[in-house]
Amino acid sequence: MDHDDTAVRECERCPELCASRSRIVNGVGPIDAALQFVGEAPGAQEDAQGEPFVGRSGAVLDDALRDRGLARRDVRISNCVRCRPPDNRDPRSGELENCREYLEREIDVVDPEVVVTLGKVPSEHLLGRSVAVTREAGTLHDVSIAGTARRVMVCVHPAATLYDRGQLSTFEGALDEAVELVGAGGGEDGSGQSRIGDF
Ligand code: URA
Repeated sequence: MDHDDTAVRECERCPELCASRSRIVNGVGPIDAALQFVGEAPGAQEDAQGEPFVGRSGAVLDDALRDRGLARRDVRISNCVRCRPPDNRDPRSGELENCREYLEREIDVVDPEVVVTLGKVPSEHLLGRSVAVTREAGTLHDVSIAGTARRVMVCVHPAATLYDRGQLSTFEGALDEAVELVGAGGGEDGSGQSRIGDF
């Protein structure tokens, strides 16, 4: 796991999350990444390992990156909240707000060319409105985040592709757009690493 100055070491803003977490799960990846993915919150695997997107959703993301010539280590991966909610419930609005400062600071430091929001919670959190994720996946939005203009690409959550295979093309289509925007990727035999073992 990366240690950089965007890492939160101690936080007790959300009593329920403090009680349910094993640890704080900070963002990982290059501190100058061109692409930053933002998910919802750590799940059980992430809470256990201290890294975002290392469970089944993470494997979907890793595979999709690899297919586009990218490795996990090439991109920044973060969440809206850094502590696992009990019973994998959605983070509450107060929890999202408590953690907003940490995410905004991370985006500020990384200064990505494109932020990709994975699912409804991060899309609505960063766009500040309700979002129909499946319909809007692949659309790019100019958003002010902590006073700086950012480009935010809406994407479905990788977990959605596990429940509904029809969502895979929507997920991959948005990823194609994002990768093309940053001019990244190394073709089909690129340097990506599969993490299928994480299932
Ligand atoms: N889902 C998320 O939104 N974030 C993770 O880190 C893992 C699963």
